[in-house]
Amino acid sequence: MESNKRSNFSGSIGFVLAAAGSAVGLGNIWRFPYLAAKDGGGLFLVTYVVLALTFGFTLLTTEIAIGRKTAQSPLTAYEKLHKGWGWIGVLACAIPVIILPYYSAIGGWILKYLAAFITDAAATTADGYFTGFITSQWSPILWFMVFLLANTVIVYKGVNSGIERLSKILMPILLVLILGIAGFSLTLSHTDASGVTRTGLQGLAIYVIPNLEGVTFGKFISILMDAMGQLFYSISVAMGIMIAYGSYVKKETNLVKSVNQIEIFDTLVAFLAGMMIIPAVYTFMGTEGMAAGPSLMFVSLPKVFAAMGGIGTVVGIAFFVMVAFAALTSSMSLMEAVVSSVMDKLHLERKAAVLAVAALTGVLGIIVCLGYNVLYFELTLPNGSVGQILDVMDYVSNYVFMPVVAIATCILVGWVIKPKAIIEEVTLGGVKFGREKLYVVMVKFVTPVMLAMLLLQSLGLFM
Ligand code: PHE
Repeated sequence: MESNKRSNFSGSIGFVLAAAGSAVGLGNIWRFPYLAAKDGGGLFLVTYVVLALTFGFTLLTTEIAIGRKTAQSPLTAYEKLHKGWGWIGVLACAIPVIILPYYSAIGGWILKYLAAFITDAAATTADGYFTGFITSQWSPILWFMVFLLANTVIVYKGVNSGIERLSKILMPILLVLILGIAGFSLTLSHTDASGVTRTGLQGLAIYVIPNLEGVTFGKFISILMDAMGQLFYSISVAMGIMIAYGSYVKKETNLVKSVNQIEIFDTLVAFLAGMMIIPAVYTFMGTEGMAAGPSLMFVSLPKVFAAMGGIGTVVGIAFFVMVAFAALTSSMSLMEAVVSSVMDKLHLERKAAVLAVAALTGVLGIIVCLGYNVLYFELTLPNGSVGQILDVMDYVSNYVFMPVVAIATCILVGWVIKPKAIIEEVTLGGVKFGREKLYVVMVKFVTPVMLAMLLLQSLGLFM
């Protein structure tokens, strides 16, 4: 009865674009290029792709299959899979509850920059513009609210007419925009005050050619960990999203193909983000200009756009539109993971669940925004970085809870219910599962061990 009422993606394209919409987010744009530039260019790229085909494929397949098999939200799926293992679901569902408020706060920053680029692009390059904005009391809250409202409206409309429909529109536009900006980046050339000319193509070479200089075994392990951590975050696993989306996938859909397509889309966009950002930053700032996170997007890039002259404003607008789409499709997947959990657990209607989740997110998000002014503090985290409320939430969810959820999922699937349970779901209707043997080895042994290393590293106990 219950599963008959469950919404469905209309077909595999809708599902793939929605899942890719979740996967393609700020991580692709503000962290992947930075890591690639730092970790030996092509060497990082190759490592990342190999991991995507093994480690990423294992985690993504597992979660989507769990969702479709149980037809349940993350909160309720694990208990249905095996009695006594529902706690993983509770933890998995807590993660989007924590991430959604700060992801939406950042979504607000993006909208603010988009508006600024439309009205007065030059202002964004002033020293202290970004700090001035986030430390102001009302403006970040206002923009956060706008972003959250957009997100809420979409999820309120449901899986089909909200999430799927919007993903089908936004994702192709995003791809076109990023292709256009990346192509433009390659044409850049700039001579600085000391007479040195740097070009976009030289930047591209730094990005794609493997730099093996100084790569020792230890350094390689650290590149491997960077790539793994990035991939893990990038494909949106271990936070219930892919279980929620998987639960809306029809039994006729080929999961093997879908997983491949989602990974290709996500990796392609990450690669293009690097092709867009590294040559542009290199041309105008040299390699020292490369940064990760907010300082790349809100401090360095506006300067790069300004250095391009008049066309920089257009490029900047296109860029922030693209980033806003990436952030919105990711944040709606976070909200959907929580909403579906509330609906399944409390047997609520979608509308009531959405309003409850939006209200909670509103309160938490305001606290995140106030973390840069009224509630400001500096806390040193176990991995050595110093942060405010946003960083603490990010640390707890991404570095602690997520690896724990993923490790527990691998143990449950690999050793308790056995990989066969997933393989049966994947091969329903006679679908060929090419990497079946690889999957078994990965889910039982390799993936949990690699994740344990990642967890120890996050806790500051390894490397
Ligand atoms: N996968 C997204 C990215 O690469 C990150 C994300 C985090 C998505 C949380 C949804 C939720 O940016």
